[in-house]
Amino acid sequence: MKINQDTVLRGQKVTLVPYTAAHVPRYHEWMQSEELQRLTASEPLSLEQEHEMQRSWRDDADKCTFIVLDSGRWPGQAEENSMVGDVNLFLTNPEDPTVGEIEIMIAEPSCRGRGFGKEATLLMMAYGVRKLGIIKFEAKIGQGNEASICMFKKLHFKEVAVSSIFQEVTLRLDVSEQERQWLLEQTNHVEEQSYAELKQPDGVLDT
Ligand SMILES: CC(C)(COP(=O)(O)OP(=O)(O)OC[C@H]1O[C@@H](n2cnc3c(N)ncnc32)[C@H](O)[C@@H]1OP(=O)(O)O)[C@@H](O)C(=O)NCCC(=O)NCCS
Repeated sequence: MKINQDTVLRGQKVTLVPYTAAHVPRYHEWMQSEELQRLTASEPLSLEQEHEMQRSWRDDADKCTFIVLDSGRWPGQAEENSMVGDVNLFLTNPEDPTVGEIEIMIAEPSCRGRGFGKEATLLMMAYGVRKLGIIKFEAKIGQGNEASICMFKKLHFKEVAVSSIFQEVTLRLDVSEQERQWLLEQTNHVEEQSYAELKQPDGVLDT
């Protein structure tokens, strides 16, 4: 979707920026990893297909995505050297646009286990609640993906279904007023900035 195409969400450990064509080569490199394909239930794509996918993430009204950068490196270092993963929201139910399926990937193994996944997920959830009107989150995770299941449980998600066919568990979080307050407290350090201004002071956007 286009709503976040100029949005930067700056947290302590990670900074979320919109997914642009400039990120695709690095992203494509990551997705050659069989481990990541398995953990994210993804098929390998050609570079051209990955570019098409980026355009669809940018243009389709039912998808919102950010690239996760290491706040310790960006701004300052080149953006492609600061990329650590991505975080996505799909509006999966055309009848109910308040439901969002969330996905997170910290692709760089050296960046896992340092709180990046948790903060990136919290930033995306708060964005979903504040800007997209999401009040129900879902996450579908491979049964053996202990790290991801544990992380979502720490973020107050509850296991609601297990599919032995797909070997995945579904976790859900209904955003009550209490959960909303908790989420906003967890993310009250986050600064929202303009991507165009941070990246190119002349305001030209590379989409
Ligand atoms: C799953 C993933 C997103 C977690 O992100 P991360 O940055 O490594 O995790 P964090 O450091 O933010 O940890 C957050 C919580 O997750 C849990 N966790 C993280 N790594 C864990 C591990 N190896 N084993 C068990 N729990 C783990 C812990 O509960 C942790 O909370 P704590 O630090 O308070 O103990 C990341 O490891 C990843 O992207 N892996 C590969 C792709 C993937 O599996 N994506 C999810 C597909 S649904």
